[in-house]
Amino acid sequence: MKMETMPVTKGIYNLTDYDEVYKNFNWKSIEDKFSWSETGKINAAYEAIDKHADTFRKNKIALYYRDQEREEKYTFKEMKGLSNKAGNILKNAANVEKGDRVFVFMPRTPELYFIILGAIKLGAIVGPLFEAFMEGAVKDRLHDSEAKVIVTTPELLDRIPINQLPALKKIVVVGENVSAPHIDFLTEMKCASTKLDIVWVEKTDGLLLHYTSGSTGTPKGVLHVHYAMIQHYQTAQWVLDLKEDDVYWCTADPGWVTGTIYGIFGPWLSGTANVIVGGRFNHEAWYKAIEDYGVTVWYSAPTAFRMLMGAGDELINKYDLSSLRHVLSVGEPLNPEVIRWGMKVFQNRIHDTWWMTETGAHTICNYPCLEIRPGSMGKPVPGVEAAIVDDKGNELPPYRMGNLAIKKGWPSMMYAIWNNKEKYDSYFMQGNWYVSGDSAYMDEDGYFWFQGRVDDVILTAGERVGPFEIESKLVEHPAVAEAGVIGKPDPIRGEIIKAFIALREGYSDTEELREEIYTFVKSGLAAHAAPREIEFRDKLPKTRSGKIMRRVLKAWELNLPAGDLSTMED
Ligand code: WT7
Repeated sequence: MKMETMPVTKGIYNLTDYDEVYKNFNWKSIEDKFSWSETGKINAAYEAIDKHADTFRKNKIALYYRDQEREEKYTFKEMKGLSNKAGNILKNAANVEKGDRVFVFMPRTPELYFIILGAIKLGAIVGPLFEAFMEGAVKDRLHDSEAKVIVTTPELLDRIPINQLPALKKIVVVGENVSAPHIDFLTEMKCASTKLDIVWVEKTDGLLLHYTSGSTGTPKGVLHVHYAMIQHYQTAQWVLDLKEDDVYWCTADPGWVTGTIYGIFGPWLSGTANVIVGGRFNHEAWYKAIEDYGVTVWYSAPTAFRMLMGAGDELINKYDLSSLRHVLSVGEPLNPEVIRWGMKVFQNRIHDTWWMTETGAHTICNYPCLEIRPGSMGKPVPGVEAAIVDDKGNELPPYRMGNLAIKKGWPSMMYAIWNNKEKYDSYFMQGNWYVSGDSAYMDEDGYFWFQGRVDDVILTAGERVGPFEIESKLVEHPAVAEAGVIGKPDPIRGEIIKAFIALREGYSDTEELREEIYTFVKSGLAAHAAPREIEFRDKLPKTRSGKIMRRVLKAWELNLPAGDLSTMED
């Protein structure tokens, strides 16, 4: 079968010769772009904001913000002053010092960004939480990290069980009618000073603490340090391809690592204008944001693309999306069908990027200068070595499915799992390979192909099948909006393939449709890959970052407890 490819679109890109750069690149060579080369000390918030505020960029827009009620913009110089004010409030009223854990638990607003930056300027470690977390999820994370301060809104205040959190000293509230002992952020902002002495830190001092849940057990705190910024910056250059005049929009919430690394550091370390749209997903508001701001580089997720695709193309024709020049995706497998749709409606290739909370930045990606092979995650970032290894850590040849692993030592690699060295060590094989928990294979040209989480791989009648391939085939069927596939234990076949499907508008649950979908996969993919069981559901269980939670589907199927659900969307 001839492989489908999407050729490079003409343009001038930051990364022009992938192979050449991959061969020769060394992270040390870019260290002197940052202040530590002169002073030995750094601070990522200084590099992201203050540095630009003292240059020709001072009056350049750093942040365009809008939600249903607000529409605002801030220059780098204003961002410097406002984050200094926020830092002063945290320092003077909440006593925040270097190394303290400061959590933010609030929706996206400009204040959230002032606060994150202000806390980092004090050398504090920021722990971002999704606003949708309920009390139990908030408590687990604050307790594990012994957080000293949390910043929240009046609506979310009740979900913080302060009496059960002895380390928690202060709550800062962003909103109206805040009463003591809580700190009234908006009132304090009125008179806080715009001058703040930055706390300079070491390269390996903590920057962010992102909690992430594995397939089992309680969430773990993944610690990232200031040094990681060199990879935030460099991947923003190579992968996001950010340039001086770009208007960049990353749709992720900072509760998720994409929303911090590429919603804050990637663009601002690059001095790029950053668009933040608050509130929930909304087809029209999203297209309108691209049109109104003239977004040029857009970073979103397959789940969002699929929702836009599901809403139909007539909607798109109402908006002018011609400003878009580079579109990217992250978080779960990007279905080839979505890439084809992107070509059709945005005249842009959608570039898949693979990374994890633990890898701290892009690791395997599609670059503007390389052809895209739909269904593949692309090739390793220069300076990152990736391979497929067996369960003993031996490298496997092309086309063999195995563990996707990264050679230890890339700059943004997690620095620790908070309070859990054993867990941290368990990620590494032969001390040398970081093992991702994803299964994949590499083709003969070095493109990596995602197959599923290792725990998701299905073994049916002796064949190993990855659920993603089947899901991608399923969503090509006109009736299927979303699909999640699991292996269901079967006495004969070991496992059979079961598909949970959410139908598109206008289709309903019939035996004929089930048959048709079965045959569609059988004839389009393989007989052994066709779902022998199909169950229609209104919605599939997904994480807030859009990943279909196959373990929840599996638990439903087997009547087992579904484990930690704190990251599941409402
Ligand atoms: C897991 C990590 C860092 C932001 C992403 C979410 C899956 C991520 C892709 C992709 C297929 C992907 C993997 C990975 N994943 N990107 N491009 N194609 N799968 O970070 O919540 O830590 O999840 O998301 O399974 O291990 P995260």
